[in-house]
Amino acid sequence: MSSRNLNRSVFGDPANAGNLLSDEEANALLLEWVPNEKLRLHMKQVAANMKAWAIEKEGADDLTARKWEQAGLLHDADWEKYPDDHCRVIIEELEKRNVDPEVIHCIASHGPSVFGVTPVSKMDKMIYAIDELSGFIHACSLIRPTGYEGLEVKSVLKRLKTAAFAAQVSREDINEAVGMIDCTLEELIAFVIEHQKRCEM
Ligand SMILES: [Fe+2]
Repeated sequence: MSSRNLNRSVFGDPANAGNLLSDEEANALLLEWVPNEKLRLHMKQVAANMKAWAIEKEGADDLTARKWEQAGLLHDADWEKYPDDHCRVIIEELEKRNVDPEVIHCIASHGPSVFGVTPVSKMDKMIYAIDELSGFIHACSLIRPTGYEGLEVKSVLKRLKTAAFAAQVSREDINEAVGMIDCTLEELIAFVIEHQKRCEM
């Protein structure tokens, strides 16, 4: 497997500030690049959490909220078809399509230990904090007969301490990311449970 380190820290063109894919373009890209429904759901869940966080916690305006949402929606767009070049391919695609550099930097920041890009902005730090935790909480919901209904923060915390459960989810990354933001792990878990449960495939 080739290294996924991007060996870059600057992404996109500042002249493209404010440019985003339309919802139709973003959804078309998702359908074309991500046949796997479960992965698409994960990306929609991260998008819903990011958008909600921007609006509720950061007081974001419409454009800013859409940036957070689009970064969440597209962050794993190349994972299924280009696993060895994950992140590089979607980043280059969004640069070609003149997408806002903050969105591209955010996508590049979602796995600092893998892509070698340090999260800088609030949006960067939140995608890092939300991404793994969102997948983990979804895994917690899947083993419950009632899914998200009644899923409690303390049961998610307990499973985080169980190394064998969803073992591929890096607890280290979650802890490091939460250390970068102004929110406790408990608060973030509660936020994610609340906001991603309504996402549908
Ligand atoms: Fe992800």
